[in-house]
Amino acid sequence: MKAIIVTNEAEGTAGMKLTARAEPIAAMNEVVVQVHASGFTFNELEWPSTWTDRRDVNRTPSIPGHEFSGVVTALGYGTAGLSVGQRVFGLADWFRDGSLAEYVAIEARNLAPLPGDIDFTIGAALVMPGLTAWQGIIEHGQVQSGQSVIVHGAAGVVGSMAVQLAREAGAYVIGTGRASSRHTALDFGANEYIDLDNEKLEDVRKVDLVFDVLGGDITTRSAGVIRAGGTLVTIAGPTEARPVDGRAIDFVVEANRGQLIELAQWVRDGRIKTNIGKIVTLDEAVATFASKVPLVGKTIIRVRP
Ligand SMILES: NC(=O)c1ccc[n+]([C@@H]2O[C@H](COP(=O)([O-])OP(=O)(O)OC[C@H]3O[C@@H](n4cnc5c(N)ncnc54)[C@H](OP(=O)(O)O)[C@@H]3O)[C@@H](O)[C@H]2O)c1
Repeated sequence: MKAIIVTNEAEGTAGMKLTARAEPIAAMNEVVVQVHASGFTFNELEWPSTWTDRRDVNRTPSIPGHEFSGVVTALGYGTAGLSVGQRVFGLADWFRDGSLAEYVAIEARNLAPLPGDIDFTIGAALVMPGLTAWQGIIEHGQVQSGQSVIVHGAAGVVGSMAVQLAREAGAYVIGTGRASSRHTALDFGANEYIDLDNEKLEDVRKVDLVFDVLGGDITTRSAGVIRAGGTLVTIAGPTEARPVDGRAIDFVVEANRGQLIELAQWVRDGRIKTNIGKIVTLDEAVATFASKVPLVGKTIIRVRP
């Protein structure tokens, strides 16, 4: 099969190569999926799991990409609920070969059925931001109707989904980011926008929840704009910052079939939309990721036409 591999961490995306690899096989509880569309998070090559397995042993050459949609082509033992030919989407294991390839092996429980009226590109683009925002806003953030929420990086891939989920939950949403992203954030439903380059985060009235994708100084300062007893949720790594009498949660997104089913239904109902910037073929993907032109929105690889 065709697959994109990386072998050298220091090279970053410049080290991505399209090559031929053996097709994966389905072990117990796993299925093989013929990938139709796949996504890649821009800083995935900085994650330790791209380079090693769970025992910290080098696993290169590795195939990046974890979010995808496709069709099941083989079933291992114990994969109840899935069948060959079924349309699916899901999140592949961080520590194994991923989805920038024609086929991927994945535990059945990490997949959900993809309804026939949702395009494969939309399915692939929904996985990572959908699950991350769902877990950040609804599960960990426990957002309630009438609350106010700050979403940092609100025009970005994850942030734009977090804005939509918080609005759907009935919250008042203040998006943040660069000046140039104001329009996009408001388009995705933010009620207000703070341009972090020119406006002061601390000037905002206190909120119940902050959802942070930026990290560093922004995470630390965010604790101060949360009302006592409120919640800081970050996906940018562990933090010492904590709202007064409140909770601070750092998490890494997990596969979740039930949440994917729910997200697909919300797309069908027109309640949320994906933030796709560009769609390219597998043959074009290496040049796209290595390009110096900044990628805005999710880049989706259409692996099968
Ligand atoms: N823990 C987890 O489970 C998890 C899951 C998914 C993603 N992540 C991480 O979350 C981060 C965001 O991912 P993403 O795919 O949403 O990225 P993205 O699409 O690039 O979104 C980030 C947004 O924040 C803006 N931004 C970045 N730095 C900024 C700054 N200093 N000031 C103001 N705005 C700034 C970006 O604007 P520009 O485009 O103009 O820079 C962009 O609009 C990544 O680090 C990713 O690895 C973590």
